[in-house]
Amino acid sequence: MANTITLTMIKPDAVEKGFTGNILKDIADAGFTITALKLTQLTRSDAERFYSVHRERPFFNSLVEFMISGPIVAAVLKKDNAVEDFRKLIGATNPENAEEGTIRKKYAESVEKNAVHGSDSDENAAIEAHFHFADKEIYSFL
Ligand code: CMP
Repeated sequence: MANTITLTMIKPDAVEKGFTGNILKDIADAGFTITALKLTQLTRSDAERFYSVHRERPFFNSLVEFMISGPIVAAVLKKDNAVEDFRKLIGATNPENAEEGTIRKKYAESVEKNAVHGSDSDENAAIEAHFHFADKEIYSFL
């Protein structure tokens, strides 16, 4: 599958601990090209909208509070088979279950403060990329 995209967020826990550079290096070393990148902070309504699929989950309010607690780094990543390969690179949602060497195993502290987000489908990757970036901010030629 050539040149698909995924959307990642380096979450407030990992940004606050200074892991941004190491995580971006792991992403680049795994063969992903960064085609959009920003340091930003979600508003409450941004976070509620981004995670609206989880609205009925017991962890929703806590997740929103966490995601607005500090800056995040959002990025669009390009690679063959980007969604699946990125999910392999970051590891299981709960870092306790993540394989050695994965980003969550290395940098996450809990199922909520799990260091990074990765899109779960090509369709959601496109939606999430456009949630964070205007068309002109995504350098598709890279
Ligand atoms: P992510 O996969 O980026 O998107 C949904 C987020 O919800 C997930 O990362 C976690 O941060 C959070 N999450 C998922 N399951 C739980 C849980 N059981 N308890 C708390 N937070 C969770």
